[in-house]
Amino acid sequence: MKLLITGANRGLGFALTTEAVERGHTVFAGVRSLEHPIESLRQLRSDFPDQVILLPLDVTDEATCLSATKRLESENITLDVIINNAAILNERSKRIEELDLEKVEQSFQINLFGPMRVIKFFLPILTKGSDSSIINISSEAGSFQNAYGGDYPYALSKSALNMFSKQLRKYLADDQVSVYAVHPGWIKTDMGGEQAPGTPEESARGILNIVEKKQKITSTSSFINTKGEPMPL
Ligand SMILES: NC(=O)c1ccc[n+]([C@@H]2O[C@H](COP(=O)([O-])OP(=O)(O)OC[C@H]3O[C@@H](n4cnc5c(N)ncnc54)[C@H](OP(=O)(O)O)[C@@H]3O)[C@@H](O)[C@H]2O)c1
Repeated sequence: MKLLITGANRGLGFALTTEAVERGHTVFAGVRSLEHPIESLRQLRSDFPDQVILLPLDVTDEATCLSATKRLESENITLDVIINNAAILNERSKRIEELDLEKVEQSFQINLFGPMRVIKFFLPILTKGSDSSIINISSEAGSFQNAYGGDYPYALSKSALNMFSKQLRKYLADDQVSVYAVHPGWIKTDMGGEQAPGTPEESARGILNIVEKKQKITSTSSFINTKGEPMPL
C-alpha cells in the first residue's frame, strides 16, 4: 500500500511511518519543514530507501499541499491511505478568561483545517474502493461525554475533526473508502509526555491493523480506538 502520513518526523507519525515500512508499505512522509528535527526519519529513509519518500507538507499552507500533490501526480502516484496525524496541543490548562484566541485559531488551522486541506488536495489521488482508507487521528478530548472543562483549542478542534470524519464518511460511502477518527490512546510522545501509559509503537500497530483490515471494527460510529471499538461521542 501507499500511505500519506502527516507529521511523520516524530511521535505517533514517526511510529506509524516505521511500522508501515516494516510491513512492506511505501510512505509519503509529510514533514512541516526539512529544517525541523527529522534525523530519525532520515535514518529510516536510508534503511528503507525505496519505501520512505520525504514530502515537505505544512498542513497550514495550501501551497505545500498543492506542490506535494503535483509532485505525486507528475509521477502517476496514487495513494491507498491518508493518515492525518499532525496536530498541536497549545494553551494547556488555560482558563477561558485568559485564553488567547489567536492560539485557538492556530490550533484549528493545524488540527481541523489541516486535515481538511490535506483531503481537499489529496482526495483526487486516493484510489477509491474497499481497500482505501482515511484515518484522522483524533482524541478522546474531542468527545462530548468526556468534556473536562479545559484545553479548549485542542478539545474543540478534535471534536470538529470527529464531525469532519463523519461528513467525509458519508461523502465517500459510495466509493467504499473507510473513514475513521481514531483515538490513539494516551501515549509517550512530546505531546503525551513521559507519564503516558502507552507507546506510539503499540498505537501504530493498531492503526496499521485497521488500515490493513486486519482489525475487526466493532463500532458502527466513525470515532474509534485502535482496537476498532467505539469511542464515546
Ligand atoms: N500523545 C498522546 O497522548 C495523544 C493522545 C490523543 C491523541 N493524540 C493525537 O495523536 C497525533 C500525534 O500526536 P503526537 O503525540 O505524536 O504529537 P507530537 O509528538 O507533538 O508530534 C506532532 C507532529 O505534528 C507535526 N506538526 C505540527 N504542526 C504541523 C503543521 N503545521 N504541518 C505539518 N506537521 C505539523 C509536528 O511536526 P514538527 O516536528 O515540525 O513540529 C510533529 O511531527 C495528534 O493528532 C494528536 O492530537 C496524541
